[in-house]
Amino acid sequence: MKIALLAGSVRAGSINVKLAKAMAQKYRELGDDVTLIDLKDYEMPIYNGDYEAEHGAPQSTQDLAALLVEQDGILMVGPEYNGSLTPLLKNTIDWLTRTDNRDHIIKPVWSLGSCTLGPMSGLMVMRQMNYIMNRLKADVLQRQLGIGNAKDAFTPDGRLARKSDQDNSDAQIADMRLRVSQKNA
Ligand SMILES: Cc1cc2nc3c(=O)[nH]c(=O)nc-3n(C[C@H](O)[C@H](O)[C@H](O)COP(=O)(O)O)c2cc1C
Repeated sequence: MKIALLAGSVRAGSINVKLAKAMAQKYRELGDDVTLIDLKDYEMPIYNGDYEAEHGAPQSTQDLAALLVEQDGILMVGPEYNGSLTPLLKNTIDWLTRTDNRDHIIKPVWSLGSCTLGPMSGLMVMRQMNYIMNRLKADVLQRQLGIGNAKDAFTPDGRLARKSDQDNSDAQIADMRLRVSQKNA
């Protein structure tokens, strides 16, 4: 299975990138073809209709779309800013809707996650990501991967530390494998 992990933060020391990496490790151990996406490699200007009228979608958007459409599954991990998506993630999604087609959104199976410093585990942002991706007719898994209290959530070697988080992440991976295999059957 081809799976990409996309975190909506490029901050050095990002806890959401940490979560994406922990999940990448799990998928790799299952033998999957894993791509960890760093949005620093896909810089896009803040969406502006005048820019689009002049230049179209940036090459970085087209490159990211080309990568996403090749995937069976995508885990999108969104940091929570004021109960919502980071501007980086929202801007990336908005640009991804301004390409010639939306196969890169519609074709893969999407799963959602978030990691927060506090105990609420990104419930608000995952709800919003779910709303947006469903609105775009993406195939989104219901089970979400919310990791709260990030300080205690990872082992020194970057794995999920708590049994409850391990169980939930394994269950989300199982849901992903099942949905992808059903789609490819
Ligand atoms: C503008 C802003 C708003 C934030 N709002 C929330 C919030 O609503 N809920 C929450 O749990 N954390 C909130 N935080 C804390 C972030 O979740 C925290 O900074 C986290 O480390 C960001 O993710 P990252 O480490 O992956 O970059 C906010 C942080 C910033 C900078």
